[in-house]
Amino acid sequence: EEPQTFYDAVGGEETFTRLVRRFYQGVADDPVLRPLYPEEDLGPAEERLRLFLIQYWGGPRTYSDQRGHPRLRMRHSPFRVGSRERDHWLGHMRAAVDELELPEALDRQLWEYLVYAAHSMVNTPDEA
Ligand code: HEM
Repeated sequence: EEPQTFYDAVGGEETFTRLVRRFYQGVADDPVLRPLYPEEDLGPAEERLRLFLIQYWGGPRTYSDQRGHPRLRMRHSPFRVGSRERDHWLGHMRAAVDELELPEALDRQLWEYLVYAAHSMVNTPDEA
């Protein structure tokens, strides 16, 4: 039998669907983040993040089937991501993770990754 993935442990697809839906509800009303998104409809961006996180945590590899290698830093290079944008992104993500009400160890593992990933996505120094 395969060992259980993190994806399975947190509840599979439904959990990631809830996470990104709540996250993008925050983005939709955020005056710092909303202008960064090139499309009027945030739905496609929500779906890309959903599929990426599902794949990252051991679920189906649909993200790469559709988008290829993630190359996330490169894909963010058209957007100004400074510490302000990062902190807004993490603020909405924290609220979204809270609503999942995961067991503490799973919450911590997910959150540590998101904090690390968000810091690594910063591409614009504060003084620029
Ligand atoms: C795409 C902003 C961090 C994963 C995007 C897009 C924007 C954006 C504006 C384009 C929307 C679209 O898909 O059309 C930001 C900001 C961040 C951030 C301001 C602050 C730090 C992250 C992090 C992750 C992530 C930490 C992963 C854990 C993605 C993915 C896409 C994306 C998977 C779609 C890539 C693709 O296939 O084209 N982000 N992002 N982002 N972001 Fe972020």
